[in-house]
Amino acid sequence: MNACHLLIVLLLVSNITLSSGVLEVFAAIVSYVFYTFFDRNDLLPFDPKRLEKDLRDSLFGQHIVSDVVLKAVTSFMNDSNPNKPLVLSFHGTTGVGKNHVAKIIARNVYKKGIQSKHIHTYISEHHFPHRTKLDLYSAQLKQWIHGNVSSFPRSMFIFDEMDKMQPQLIDVIKPFLDYNARVDRVSFHNAIFIFLSNAGGNVIAEVALDYWREGKNREELWMNSKEMETKILQNIFNDKNSVY
Ligand SMILES: *[C@@H]1O[C@H](CO)[C@@H](O)[C@H](O)[C@H]1NC(C)=O
Ligand SMILES: *[C@@H]1O[C@H](CO)[C@@H](O)[C@H](O)[C@H]1NC(C)=O
Repeated sequence: MNACHLLIVLLLVSNITLSSGVLEVFAAIVSYVFYTFFDRNDLLPFDPKRLEKDLRDSLFGQHIVSDVVLKAVTSFMNDSNPNKPLVLSFHGTTGVGKNHVAKIIARNVYKKGIQSKHIHTYISEHHFPHRTKLDLYSAQLKQWIHGNVSSFPRSMFIFDEMDKMQPQLIDVIKPFLDYNARVDRVSFHNAIFIFLSNAGGNVIAEVALDYWREGKNREELWMNSKEMETKILQNIFNDKNSVY
């Protein structure tokens, strides 16, 4: 045991006595090894076939959602240089599987799935309960999104109970979602934002109905319509049925 300790001490001493240049290289290698094996390692190589199977096997009776999620996630993950983060929002009453879709996406992006340390879940009334602390919450949320994406671009943020989110906090999130969003020189294009909301069903149904009357395919509408995306975002962000 003593010999072993002695050996370690010797190693440390001999490293310290190396020239600083060598020490820097050593530090660089350590950080490279750290990021390669401990951090990046949480990312799964993306496999669209596996996501398709997972959606088919675990999201029953939600064919449109499955197709939309598959297309959106696949085109995003397959794009080495996306021009905006992936933004998905799921609306519906409790029990329709909104959280479940988020979990499926998570386990197709990260090895540890929803347990990944790169997933940050915020539940409006749980994380931001006091209206008197909105300024503090705003500053924290901005710092958290910014800090996590700076240290790990493929971070995922799940906002649950979006319909109960205070407008001031929603304003904090918006700039991160834009095309070519850069906030303090950090790019957010590889990040994933998922919004879960109990509200918004009406507007979506209305827009879908309009398109349907015009004879457009509903999935096409979800996938290709910038207008739809804008309306959904406006709807989550300005929901009139919102409690506040
Ligand atoms: C991924 O992108 C490449 C081109 O960059 C394309 O050939 C391929 O079909 C894409 N795969 C999927 C599943 O979209
Ligand atoms: C990431 O977000 C969490 C909260 O979700 C926060 O506690 C943590 O400090 C953030 N990390 C960075 C590097 O900002």
